[in-house]
Amino acid sequence: MTKTETPQSSGGDVRLHGISKTYGSFTAVQPLDLTVPAGSFFALLGASGCGKTTTLRMIAGLEEPTTGTVELSGRDVTALPPYKRQVNTVFQNYALFPHLDIYENVAFGLRRRGIKSVKKQVEEMLDLVQLGPMARRKPQQLSGGQQQRVAVARALINHPQVLLLDEPLGALDLKLRRQMQLELKRIQTEVGITFVHVTHDQEEAMTMADTVAVMNGGRVEQLGAPADLYENPGTTFVANFLGTSNLIEAEVVEAGGEELLLRAADTTLHLPAARCSASARKGEKVLAGVRPEKVALTHADDADGIAAEHNRLPGRIKDASFIGVSTQYVVEVPGLGELAVYEQNIERDGRLVPGAGIVLHWSRAHTFGLDATQDIQAGADLDEEAA
Ligand SMILES: Nc1ncnc2c1ncn2[C@@H]1O[C@H](COP(=O)(O)OP(=O)(O)OP(=O)(O)O)[C@@H](O)[C@H]1O
Ligand SMILES: [Mg+2]
Repeated sequence: MTKTETPQSSGGDVRLHGISKTYGSFTAVQPLDLTVPAGSFFALLGASGCGKTTTLRMIAGLEEPTTGTVELSGRDVTALPPYKRQVNTVFQNYALFPHLDIYENVAFGLRRRGIKSVKKQVEEMLDLVQLGPMARRKPQQLSGGQQQRVAVARALINHPQVLLLDEPLGALDLKLRRQMQLELKRIQTEVGITFVHVTHDQEEAMTMADTVAVMNGGRVEQLGAPADLYENPGTTFVANFLGTSNLIEAEVVEAGGEELLLRAADTTLHLPAARCSASARKGEKVLAGVRPEKVALTHADDADGIAAEHNRLPGRIKDASFIGVSTQYVVEVPGLGELAVYEQNIERDGRLVPGAGIVLHWSRAHTFGLDATQDIQAGADLDEEAA
């Protein structure tokens, strides 16, 4: 079959206006405004309990919002039951019918609507998810990843405008999950419908989605393209939850120009004013952030060679872990605590071992600034939990 025969549905956009959900006195989702553009791959990312599933269920019509409205393709569907919304959901446990073979599982939605000639559509769907040869097997004769693909085919055959996926890869082991991420992305690109994908795995969200909404405690903390969120986190939660950040408490000693001058412990740091999301007047505190892979380590004996326009901090290596592509260092910086540094393994300096005196340095342009009134640790432990 050629690609052009792949069943095409046009994606719809999803607009949430002030939707919230409270259970008794507990608010699971705070009033939320969100637009998911038609045809996009949108991820809701957040730790356990932050309100991802509740949000998804309100879009599907499986949960009634306490306040607000849900719009699909410009139509207010808040009062419509799930089956009247052009939305299908794929759940973590797939929910395949064990007594039906793969073909009949995929055909189910069509048969239920009384459609007799299902062959062409089912075969196209099985091709799309690359399970044609398995059509006559039962679900328990398939691997987890294959069952997952059946669940996707079974949902897509109904030509929804929007496909909702709630941790659909959660039951798979890491390697299979990585494969399925690429597979789902391919399917989405091919059919062109809107995908809203819920996950607590930040790598998964970044790999698959055009836009990621980072949720925390029933709110969207920040929304954007993966690279933009990663490079320009707006809160400590996003900085710590999406990858790792070094956050340094500093005081503004000079403001007003293109660069802010900061004092951290006994060192001066430079921060591009445009990269500081906090108010930063002279005398105020800010958090200066830098990602571990942006920081270089130079042995103290060679510190003269460091580019003058780099931010620099003196320190001592506390720990070094070789992990193949990179070495991850923990560096103790007097007065500031521990910072993380990831160095690619290209030419390794044999002197960079625990105990060595070093200088950390990085391009000023790679420094971002955050509001210092936030919890500096927010989101840091959650990430480890989710990994
Ligand atoms: N029916 C309910 N009654 C009371 N509280 C509920 C109900 N459903 C969900 N909650 C609470 O609402 C919060 C959000 O739940 P939700 O299922 O949306 O989280 P989630 O982000 O999907 O988490 P996870 O990653 O663990 O699936 C949780 O604290 C949960 O305990
Ligand atoms: Mg959930």
